[in-house]
Amino acid sequence: MIVLGIESSCDETSAAVVSARGEDAALDSLVILSQDVHTIFGGVVPEIASRAHLAAIAPVVKRALEEAHVELDDIDAIGVTNGPGLVGALLVGVSFAKSLAASLEIPVIGVNHLEGHLFATALEDPEAVPPFTALLVSGGHTMLLDVPAWGEYVLLGSTRDDAAGEAFDKVAKLLGLPYPGGRHIEALAKESSGATIRFPRPMLHGGQRPGDADYYDVSFSGLKTAMLHAVRHAEARGTLDAERAQLARSFQDALVETLAAKTVRAAVEHRRTRVVLGGGVACNQALVSAVRDRVRAQVGTDAKVFAPGVRLATDNAAMIARAALFHLGRGERSELSLNAFSSMPLA
Ligand code: KG4
Ligand code: ZN
Repeated sequence: MIVLGIESSCDETSAAVVSARGEDAALDSLVILSQDVHTIFGGVVPEIASRAHLAAIAPVVKRALEEAHVELDDIDAIGVTNGPGLVGALLVGVSFAKSLAASLEIPVIGVNHLEGHLFATALEDPEAVPPFTALLVSGGHTMLLDVPAWGEYVLLGSTRDDAAGEAFDKVAKLLGLPYPGGRHIEALAKESSGATIRFPRPMLHGGQRPGDADYYDVSFSGLKTAMLHAVRHAEARGTLDAERAQLARSFQDALVETLAAKTVRAAVEHRRTRVVLGGGVACNQALVSAVRDRVRAQVGTDAKVFAPGVRLATDNAAMIARAALFHLGRGERSELSLNAFSSMPLA
């Protein structure tokens, strides 16, 4: 079975071809067109994103088919992200997928973008399969999940305010770095020899017990405000340039330690020996190492942490095609009335 995947939920127009190989799936092609135009505005402008998807979708799909050496007639089904995301942006992918599926007389299936992120690592590593603990950290989402099996997602905790990537992006802006700022913060933090300020670890304190409302939840707005004050003070002292790297490191350490500690809590509590990371922030090597170190120390040396490579961590259609393949295998199909939704619960 050959599945064409389409993703247009935010500012990446992406198409991919994935084919079934027994229980596994092979990634035959992946094309991702990032809309750089939004850097000018310091954030994604929905109307511009929709128009850019419209211009890009047909050539991106064509290219993905060419790179996979398949013709339109070879495709057995189309998987498309239909939420959560920007509705106008999603509708471009959904409308394109439905029209193509109708003209080829093949099934179309709507995929939850977040479920796609959970499948991303499995495309690179056949061991990154349930049961596992999952940490999804992107520009729009921060979720901690228990995944006993594909298709079964138990939401343990999420952010009370900003998503992890959003916190990175806002702090990057404070430090005068370009959008999206996550990777720039990581690069800057590497220049420092260590954190100079111990920012509070949000929602992380010793007295928490499983069952407490904040045991797995996170919150980054307080950390962001603490960072704002630190930057203002450095500006007032005229030392911001000299302190930039240490500030980036101090912020990253606090955020990473919080996420790593909460992830390990989930793995220990649910006796999982596999942890899967997903979303753009999973590109952050400090986060991956922190989770790995803690998992080894607290879960066991045989426990494994899986993080996708950069192309599969950020938004892409390969993960959507892979998730679609799973649902198609269970006999699921979407109607041609398939719609797009800005919010769409996973668990
Ligand atoms: O998953 P993604 O591509 O798009 C969303 O669905 O949001 O994630 C984008 C987010 C941005 O906030 C970006 O700053 C962040 O991922 N990001 C990083 C790194 N690379 C990307 N954050 C921290 N460190 C990185 N290396
Ligand atoms: Zn995403």
